[in-house]
Amino acid sequence: MEKRQGVGYTGRMNKQRILTLLFAVIAGLGLATTLFLVSKHQTGMPQSTGSELIPVTEDAFGGPFTLTDHTGKKVTEKDFAGKYRLIYFGFTYCPAICPTELAKITSAMKLVGEKSKDIQPMFITVDPERDTVEAMGKYVEMFHPSLVGLTGTPEEIKAAAKAYKIYFAKVQDESMNDYTMDHSSFIYFIGPDDRLLRIFRMEDSAKDMAKTIDAWLAAR
Ligand code: NI
Repeated sequence: MEKRQGVGYTGRMNKQRILTLLFAVIAGLGLATTLFLVSKHQTGMPQSTGSELIPVTEDAFGGPFTLTDHTGKKVTEKDFAGKYRLIYFGFTYCPAICPTELAKITSAMKLVGEKSKDIQPMFITVDPERDTVEAMGKYVEMFHPSLVGLTGTPEEIKAAAKAYKIYFAKVQDESMNDYTMDHSSFIYFIGPDDRLLRIFRMEDSAKDMAKTIDAWLAAR
């Protein structure tokens, strides 16, 4: 009897895993298509310069969110309204990509110089379970002094990620004791009017970013 229950349980788990995987694949494909369509607007735009000031979206991008910053203060999208923003979603346990991208944001901000005070860099966790306010506080310290770390309840994080079209999923690695997170890696550059001005990807350097940001700030 016990064995049967065990088999049934495993069966259900496998089914659930397959469904989860399928869902992840569908969600991933959907996002890839969306971003491909979005980025198609940039066709012909030189990737490494900001000479052509064509935003990715003409409409407001993102949406309402309620999160907690790395000092423990509750914040909403209204706290950042009217500002230029660099938004990155990731998690502090990320071994390579997240710290690289956040270091890139930091370098780009430094390259932009004095005018970078008009830009709010934001790091939103997709791993609220481990990324507590304290963890976020310690982590953002390693990057730009104006970087704001944002966490929240799993529901709040889900809502924020959805608003910004970020895919993320918890991945249990059998060879590790802990889990890791799969997530999209985009640095969103958003204007004061909430238009998505540019999506910086892993292949864009800090110099590329600074050039584009400079051009947008100069065109104000
Ligand atoms: Ni990461």
